[in-house]
Amino acid sequence: MMKIKDIKKEFPIFDDGKVVYLDSGATSQKPKCVLEDMRDFYEKSNANPYRGAYGLSVKATEVYNGAREKVAKFINAKESCEIIFTKNATESLNLLAYSLGLDNLKKGDEVVISIMEHHSNLVPWQKVTKAKEAKLKYLYINDNFEIDEKEIEKKITKKTKIVSITSVSNVLGTINNLEAIVKKAHSVGAVVIVDASQSVAHHKVDVQSLDADFLVFSAHKMYGPLGVGVLYGKKKLLEKMLPFIMGGDMIEFVYEQETTFAQLPNKFEAGTQNVGGVVGLASAIDFLESVGMKNIEKHERGLISYAYDKLSRLPYLTLLCPKDKSKMSSVISFNVKGVHPHDVSTLLDLKGVCVRSGNHCAQPLMRFLGIDSTCRISFGLYNTKEDVDALGVALGEIYEKFKKYIKEEN
Ligand code: ALA
Repeated sequence: MMKIKDIKKEFPIFDDGKVVYLDSGATSQKPKCVLEDMRDFYEKSNANPYRGAYGLSVKATEVYNGAREKVAKFINAKESCEIIFTKNATESLNLLAYSLGLDNLKKGDEVVISIMEHHSNLVPWQKVTKAKEAKLKYLYINDNFEIDEKEIEKKITKKTKIVSITSVSNVLGTINNLEAIVKKAHSVGAVVIVDASQSVAHHKVDVQSLDADFLVFSAHKMYGPLGVGVLYGKKKLLEKMLPFIMGGDMIEFVYEQETTFAQLPNKFEAGTQNVGGVVGLASAIDFLESVGMKNIEKHERGLISYAYDKLSRLPYLTLLCPKDKSKMSSVISFNVKGVHPHDVSTLLDLKGVCVRSGNHCAQPLMRFLGIDSTCRISFGLYNTKEDVDALGVALGEIYEKFKKYIKEEN
């Protein structure tokens, strides 16, 4: 089992010791094993899966479907055909908006999302609810940046057909109460989609105990490569849905005017897939499991608690995250009073600290909070308390530089 304290050396990007990387919520860094396995695939097993009767194509098919089985086991899906490979969580959500939403919603139906959704779990639902004359409703957050049970009870009703919700806010770090949301949604006959992009690398995800109908995530936020995503769906629901993207290998028979479609999972995987990327995703899962999800969660809980305690003592910061540490995942947003987040992140970068600034693809949330942007730190398993200390020192230096203007403004 790999030890967290030795983990940074598995990531070539940290070899020169110069980067303090606090933006894993945007994309995580990649360990050597992922890079090596992808290279190995292209050097030794590359061919188009399913398409050839020759040995190399058969090998590529085995590698590809082996990765599918690994993903299924990782999230505890019942069967590997419930795993569809896409290009990212965004594509998985679009697939659902079209194949589930556009094909099934009726006038007057309701889709419930939350105000903390990433645009990728919001804009597709705007499009399909408008097209079907259905209503898009929002779960709002309370003063502690959480969706409380009263809100869940009020917004999810008999008219609700789909609830699509993030497990963890990419801006606030809030861990949502999925148990209550799934229970309420199922009690009214709605299906639940979980966007696990910000949780799958940080906490154990178990689709069966969660009872999620669909769950999506991207490989690149969990130490895998860019350009690969996952859609999990319960088999009986996926079987009823029509494909979203048409093309090669998702068909059964094609006639001049009609087509019948392949079985799961191929029905949803049109065209040549990113097999090298899927190999990288499988390798990232091996990597996560070699460290252990429980160890990762414990390490990151310690870090977030340390960061929260440190940052909440800085009087010139406004923190945007729940105060209850049990509700916080690996993300904290903050603003330096009187200094624009883009200036803060540019100045932090000059000190070697990478943080994201902006609206984080969550403009309705920003508008709800009455701000236009934040600075955001987000942790990966390679981060340490020293990284948080480096951030604290750098913020202190920025404040020293700006404080005369800050005083004038306040
Ligand atoms: N969704 C990614 C983020 O939150 C890009 O930064």
